Amino acid sequence: MPDIAWLNGKFMPLRKAQISVMDRGFLFGDGIYEVIRTWGGRPIMVDEHLRRLVSSARMMELSCPPMTRLRKLIAAGVRRAGYKETFIYIEITRGVEFPRGHVPQKNTSPTVFLGFWRFKGRPSGDFEKGIKALTVEDFRWGRCDIKSVNLLANCMGKMNARKRGAKEVIFVHKGRLVEGGSSAVFVVKRGRLLIPGLSSVILPSLTRRLVLDTAAALGIKVAQRPVTVSQMMAADEVFLASTTAEGVPVVRIDGRKIGSGKPGEITGRLRSEILAGREAKVRRRS
Ligand code: PDD
Repeated sequence: MPDIAWLNGKFMPLRKAQISVMDRGFLFGDGIYEVIRTWGGRPIMVDEHLRRLVSSARMMELSCPPMTRLRKLIAAGVRRAGYKETFIYIEITRGVEFPRGHVPQKNTSPTVFLGFWRFKGRPSGDFEKGIKALTVEDFRWGRCDIKSVNLLANCMGKMNARKRGAKEVIFVHKGRLVEGGSSAVFVVKRGRLLIPGLSSVILPSLTRRLVLDTAAALGIKVAQRPVTVSQMMAADEVFLASTTAEGVPVVRIDGRKIGSGKPGEITGRLRSEILAGREAKVRRRS
């Protein structure tokens, strides 16, 4: 099966897709992205992802192809790739300009790239046994609500975590929880979910929203408010949520055991409910 790309108007094999070294995404990180996944072979939460893409584009004054066009391209790409489950990557940069200059020129066409490859998902052990995480002081810029391709701090944080035997990084700032390197971070204490409220330094994660809605449906209490690192370390459960993982138990942070040191009950309930909801949709379609 081929990994494929749609780049500036054409489908092609992913390995053949090339852009100019003068692309502002390459020179300045002047671009935004989305990660979408399929479930039961169909892309899920597409409108939510595209709305966030449009919102990121608006915040950085970048023109974005219409949602209807992107929706069609996503469907066509998934069909062509033909995988059981597909990882869909969208990136839009401000485009190619000569000469290099910080202030964008007028009328530059954005570079639009959609990539389609096999969705592998996380190893089942992550969900069965949980993972270790490392806290790192959040040194990202102040507009992490824009899903920009400026992910150097996220990459460095994850590299740091790996070096210390942990799988994920959890960003903290002045003794408070912020978010994961590529996920929202939930804390569970005495049956209640705690998560910091959204702000300009946190990505409005779609899976965060889904977990909050699922918690409400299950009657699990939720508090969106600042969470200190000490509260997180003393939690009964901590878990990560993102498009690529709907609830990954974190059983050790900075080498210290969280709760029982095993995946927690509420994490499991929320994850099962989300997965069951998705499976029910697949059954209704077939
Ligand atoms: N990242 N926070 C950050 C910093 C992220 O990069 C992501 C997603 C999330 C979760 O958002 P969502 O639930 O909408 O996927 C939170 C994607 C998956 C990535 O960069 O690969």
